[in-house]
Amino acid sequence: MRVTRREFLKSTTCAAFAAGIGGGAGMLAARAAEAAAPVLRAGESLARLAPGDYPETRVWSYGNSVPGPMIRLRQGDRLTRRFENALPQPSTVHWHGIRIDNAMDGVPGVTQDAVPVGGSFDYDFVLPDAGTYWYHPHNRTWEQLARGLYGPLIVEEDDPPEVDRDEVLVLDDWRLTDQAQIHEDSLGAMHDWAHAGRIGNWITVNGKGESRLSVKRNERLRLRLINAANARIFYLSLEGATAWTVALDGQPLETPVPAERLSLGPAQRVDLIVDVTAADGGEALLISHEQKRDGEERYAITGFPVSGTARGAALPAPEPLPPNPIPALGDLNAARKEVLRMEGGAMGRMQGAMMGGGFMHMRDLVGRGKVWAFNGQADMPDEPWITVARGETVRIAMTNDTAWPHAMHLHGHHFRQIGTTGTGPLRDTLLVGQGETAEIGFVADNPGDWLFHCHMVEHSAGGMMTWLRVEG
Ligand code: C2O
Ligand code: CU
Repeated sequence: MRVTRREFLKSTTCAAFAAGIGGGAGMLAARAAEAAAPVLRAGESLARLAPGDYPETRVWSYGNSVPGPMIRLRQGDRLTRRFENALPQPSTVHWHGIRIDNAMDGVPGVTQDAVPVGGSFDYDFVLPDAGTYWYHPHNRTWEQLARGLYGPLIVEEDDPPEVDRDEVLVLDDWRLTDQAQIHEDSLGAMHDWAHAGRIGNWITVNGKGESRLSVKRNERLRLRLINAANARIFYLSLEGATAWTVALDGQPLETPVPAERLSLGPAQRVDLIVDVTAADGGEALLISHEQKRDGEERYAITGFPVSGTARGAALPAPEPLPPNPIPALGDLNAARKEVLRMEGGAMGRMQGAMMGGGFMHMRDLVGRGKVWAFNGQADMPDEPWITVARGETVRIAMTNDTAWPHAMHLHGHHFRQIGTTGTGPLRDTLLVGQGETAEIGFVADNPGDWLFHCHMVEHSAGGMMTWLRVEG
């Protein structure tokens, strides 16, 4: 499908998007009644991703919807879900960004066995931090995520900021055929794995090609943006609104920052406080900027038609969100220092790497679908990359010796970037540009075995995956 958004906007009406997705809620509720915990069921379903003159898309989804069911709880609550696997292949659920009990982290072969076809697994854990999170599979993620398996997980503060509305926008990037079906022939394509990952041709927000949210002038929204794409980095801006960033990857900033141009890497989240400034009868827009060879293209990915006025004047700038109980970094000079070199990929200079206990030349690695490495090791090492004592402050200096950006994600913890003039905000996923170096620091206070990988999921499947052990 090569149709651009602008052509769509001309050729379709809003009615085409109203058809919605569906009908699974009743069944989900019925199943939930029999089970101890509410059921989160993954299976095949249809989704109306493209306009009405296209067929619905056959997707894999949670609860028969894309995105999957919204999970909204309070900070300190327990989340319980019986995951049921009605997919044609094994799966797990990973609760991205949660400082979770290791046994509930959803990593096959590390924290649990993959849930077989027709099987189930009971997830049960406490939510220590407020913020914007999401859930997704951690088995064959490059396929399962691309087919539509993801959902939002919102943890509310005890004392949330005053806003008129709190809205979640889950962004995705699909590769669809001209019949609006998942482009299956390119699932697992080595060309994508060695380059930027699976970049799509159809962007959705909350599962819709044209998403709309009607607002009022001077209304204050909290917008929670989640990037659920396999590999696309979104570059975003808002028009007809004043926005502040109040949290990144769920973690509050000490001071809200005016949000002009945002980059949102795979798996990253941003919480915005947005005041609508567009006139009554006008429209505010969320715009995606894409660099093309012949310049920048702009697409409106969500429209906010304005009807009515919420108040006479805009509200004053927002206060920071209440902080989460994440321990402060210890003495950085005394901290343990580690180095992580990212290597490989197309146009890189990696000659080969260790894999399965021996050195392999690049052509043999490619034959096994492994085209990336960390510190000369492609794919998961048998032994942890590092083992750290509980409570230790760890610094990791990452060097991106590849021709591609990477979205580095640490499980079970949040880290800060360490700069020359101080430390950055807490995050769980950090973009490291081609040729760049970035150092992070975190307190290893969550015992267990934790993955550290690139969240361009073709890159992690292609070798950019390691793990560390925090002793109990
Ligand atoms: Cu979003 Cu290893 O995960
Ligand atoms: Cu990567």
